Amino acid sequence: MKRGLFITLEGMDGSGKTTQHGLLVKYLRQRGLAVRETREPGGTRVGEEIRRILLASHGGRPAKPVKPDKPDKPDEPDELDELASLTELTLMYAARAQHLEQVVRPALARGELVLSDRFNDASMAYQGYGRQLGAPTVRALDRIICGPTQPDLTVVLDLPASLALERARGRETRRRSKHGRFEAQSIRFHERVRAGYLAIARRDPRRVKVVRADQPVAEVERQIRHVVDLFLKQSQSRRLRRSSRKVEG
Ligand code: TYD
Repeated sequence: MKRGLFITLEGMDGSGKTTQHGLLVKYLRQRGLAVRETREPGGTRVGEEIRRILLASHGGRPAKPVKPDKPDKPDEPDELDELASLTELTLMYAARAQHLEQVVRPALARGELVLSDRFNDASMAYQGYGRQLGAPTVRALDRIICGPTQPDLTVVLDLPASLALERARGRETRRRSKHGRFEAQSIRFHERVRAGYLAIARRDPRRVKVVRADQPVAEVERQIRHVVDLFLKQSQSRRLRRSSRKVEG
C-alpha cells in the first residue's frame, strides 16, 4: 500500500487558519479523497490534556529557581502557572509523539491524506523563534520525535503580526474569555513567530508555500486550493512515474 499524503496548515493566531482548515477538509472530501483531519497541540486524548496545560499557563520565561530559604511557602499565583520555554517545547513534542503514534502514522499507512491544523513548523516558529530557543534545539527534538515523518506540503498563512494580533484578540474578546497564552504575548513575540515561518518557507520552498492571509476569506481559500491542487497533481505524476519504472524494471 502506498503511503498517504501529509499536508499541514500553519500561521499565526488570527491568520484565519482554523476557518481555512475546515474549508479545505470539505473541498478535499468533495474531490473523493479519504481525509484524516486533525490538529496540534492535541489530536489525541493525551494530547488534548497536554494542550490544556499548555494553553492555560502563562509564561514562556526561564523558570525561576525555587527559593531554598522558603521551601514550604507556596509560590506567588503568577509563578504557579509559569511554564518555562523548554517545558513548553517538550510538551509540544510530547503531544506530537502521541499524535504521530496514534493518528498520523497509522492514517498514512492506510494511504489516507492527513490534514493537520499545525504541526512541527509551529514549534520552530513559536518556540524556536518566538521564545528564542533556537533552531538547533527544535531540530534536535524533531529528529527524535518526527524523524522521517515530515509533511509533504505545508501552507503558511501569512499576515502582518499587528493585524494577526488584532484579529486574535478581537476573537477572544467576542468569546468574553481572557487572552489565551499566545494571544497575550507582545507584538515583538508575534513578529518573531512570523519571521520564523517566513524563514522556514525560504529554507524549504518546495514543501512550504506562503499564502497572504490579509485578503477576503474566499480569496485565501481560492489560493490555498490552487496550491493544494498543484501539489496533488505533482504527487500523482511522481507516483505514476515510479510505478512505470517498476513495470519497466
Ligand atoms: P491553535 O489551535 O491554532 O489555537 P486556536 O485554538 O486559537 O485555534 O494553537 C494553539 C496555540 O499553540 C497557538 O497559539 C500556537 C501554539 N503552538 C506552539 O506554540 N507550538 C506548537 O508546536 C504548536 C503545535 C502550537
